[in-house]
Amino acid sequence: MEICRDIASVRSWRQARQGSVAFVPTMGYLHEGHLELMREAARRADHVIVSIFVNPTQFGPGEDFESYPRDLERDAALCASVGVDAVFSPSDAEMYPPGSLTAVSVERMTDHLCGAHRPGHFDGVTTIVSKLFNIVSPDVAVFGQKDYQQLAVIRRMVRDLNFPIEIVGVPTVREEDGVAMSSRNRYLGEDDRIRARALSAGLTQAWRAWQDGERVASVLLSAVMQQVAKHPELSIDYVEAIDPDSLATLSGQITGGCVIALAVHVGPARLIDNLRLDEPLPKGLSLT
Ligand code: PAJ
Repeated sequence: MEICRDIASVRSWRQARQGSVAFVPTMGYLHEGHLELMREAARRADHVIVSIFVNPTQFGPGEDFESYPRDLERDAALCASVGVDAVFSPSDAEMYPPGSLTAVSVERMTDHLCGAHRPGHFDGVTTIVSKLFNIVSPDVAVFGQKDYQQLAVIRRMVRDLNFPIEIVGVPTVREEDGVAMSSRNRYLGEDDRIRARALSAGLTQAWRAWQDGERVASVLLSAVMQQVAKHPELSIDYVEAIDPDSLATLSGQITGGCVIALAVHVGPARLIDNLRLDEPLPKGLSLT
């Protein structure tokens, strides 16, 4: 497995490859969710390249950029274990030399949900992902459905800016108790880790209500909130019912499909999760 530290060496790795290339952008501190993306990438192309870069421009002031966990040696070993061909792990200066004046911004779709609570976050994501796409030139890029808004925003950016890249979404990988895997779960102490179950438990309750025929947005949302409210230590950033494609907020009687997305502060961590209600309950969630 090749480890590239600068842009020039990624470009020459890419130029030397025959056949298709799939790309998995990450911020490292890899877990089974990331590895599932890499396995999917390997199924979709002849070569797989992973980027590991904690992107400063997508963190707001007071967020966890400095403390975000980093362990390149461990991450490289995990990439190698699933057959990744190359890892791109640039420095901040390599990606953001002084004097850059250009950013990529997707409008409207980034105004609510995480976009409303993390101003500038999605501009940072779309800017870095555009730069990485231009450096790597992949045929396919793989993202997790766990970051539902991010995936939708990237799909839109690729469409609007004519990137010749197929975007693939992979279902959320969960711990045994239903909690979505996240690099930020490592911030959780024992009690908070148990409280974190309220997110997936709430989503599962809403899914159950939907199966029972409930279509009123506020009732579905209160099924989620009831689970979270069992723990006064938790604080909700948002819980919303959204259209699965446009991400438009749904209210009143829901007539089409529905995703519930939420962000909750659990001790020192801000955790996000989501669930599509009009599809079978995915692997890793159960009704008990
Ligand atoms: P990061 O949080 O490291 O996530 C990298 C990719 O892994 C994203 O596509 C994310 O949706 C996916 N992922 C995370 N947890 C997952 C889980 N439990 N199951 C399935 N997929 C999961 O998302 C980012 O980094 C950054 O914003 C990035 C796109 C790299 C731009 O900096």
